[in-house]
Amino acid sequence: MDKFLVQGSGPLNGEVRIGGAKNSALKLMAASLLAEGSTSLLNVPDITDVAIMIELLEAMGVRVQREGHRIDIDVPAEIDPVAPYSLVERMRASIVVLGPLLSRIGRAQVAMPGGDDFGSRPIDMHLQGLEQLGATFSYEHGDINGRAEQLLGTEVFLEFPSVGATENLLMAAVLAEGTTVIENAAREPEIGDLANFLLKMGALIDGIGTSRLRIEGVTVLRPVTYEVIADRIEAATYLAALAVCGGELRLQGARPDHMEMLLRKLEEMGMACQENDSGLEAKVRDRLKAVDISTLPYPGLATDYKPFLVTALCVSHGAGMVTENIFAGRFRYIDELVRMGAEIRAEGRHAVVRGVERLSGAPVRAHDIRAGAALVIAGLAADGETVISDAHHVDRGYEDLAGKLSSVGAQVTRV
Ligand code: UD1
Repeated sequence: MDKFLVQGSGPLNGEVRIGGAKNSALKLMAASLLAEGSTSLLNVPDITDVAIMIELLEAMGVRVQREGHRIDIDVPAEIDPVAPYSLVERMRASIVVLGPLLSRIGRAQVAMPGGDDFGSRPIDMHLQGLEQLGATFSYEHGDINGRAEQLLGTEVFLEFPSVGATENLLMAAVLAEGTTVIENAAREPEIGDLANFLLKMGALIDGIGTSRLRIEGVTVLRPVTYEVIADRIEAATYLAALAVCGGELRLQGARPDHMEMLLRKLEEMGMACQENDSGLEAKVRDRLKAVDISTLPYPGLATDYKPFLVTALCVSHGAGMVTENIFAGRFRYIDELVRMGAEIRAEGRHAVVRGVERLSGAPVRAHDIRAGAALVIAGLAADGETVISDAHHVDRGYEDLAGKLSSVGAQVTRV
């Protein structure tokens, strides 16, 4: 059994280094398939999802070497364009190899991802967009088989600014013939990072950071060396720990410009946040005040922050209403928080959280990456010991969560 053992802690004090963004690194690794030769990525976090993406690239015949936070990806001329179920099942984000494979070699066989704890997560927008660029798909034995002679640029209008669909289309469009316009594109900072990486490889992209991406196809891209942006969700995790424990933290390498809405919310709750030369510093002196929270696509409040904000609300003064607008089923960890004495009533996309003075340590289970990290934070605000089982979910997205929290005074161990 892999677990976190957490004791009520606080105040926290010191500095935490924020690593590279998981949700960017995975996509840059997939995008490296677009150029033959050796691409190097710097500031790649040492997490399980990156290890799975390495396995996926290796299964395609790509040579990958990892040293600390650097990975060297050597892409051969011939790629075996298959993403097997055994890997896609472990990491849904594997689906982002579809776009690069279709544009670089015109073939892809990718297992259909199943459902997960967020509820049903269709990929219809990825497939429809790629079809508009000229790809065709057939479905057999749980696999999606994609074909494309030559992708042709066109205008694609996304029904919703899906992060994954925007990324797949962007990676397909850079080697398509002619101009592609993606309307209602997602604007998350990780998409900006992917676009900047592609620019460095020689792609032509306008409108980075906006909801209208205009891509002029080129015939070939070159391998490059590139540094992954900081993980705003990891930074949010430590801010939430500070929110419940009080104290003062410096988040080295954090990008406050990627987290504006979150910082506004935390300030509204009573946290003092300040950009500094090396990232961000934040202070909490008193118990925070409750606020209402509503998740939205970027620049709105990210759905990935929500478990942390709900946990902070659990011990804030007053009551807050939480509304989930991105994923239907992202409230499962709430039952675990209730086991710890939280006062939460959830129905459909809404939850009302009434703050209590302290939570009460209990055995709980991590259902996914962020929910698991949120339970670790809840444990910091609880009397006695909290035991969080299925800790491996947390390893998918965090490098040494227990070590980093311990270094600033929290009592967390990983067993
Ligand atoms: C990415 C992030 C995830 C984050 C999410 C929203 C990665 C690896 N994951 O997930 O952490 O929470 O963005 O910011 O980067 N949808 C469809 N059809 C589609 C695609 C999406 O209906 O073809 C729906 C989804 O079910 C969901 C919504 O659109 O309700 C947003 O999903 P999307 O933005 O695509 O999220 P992911 O890229 O899967």
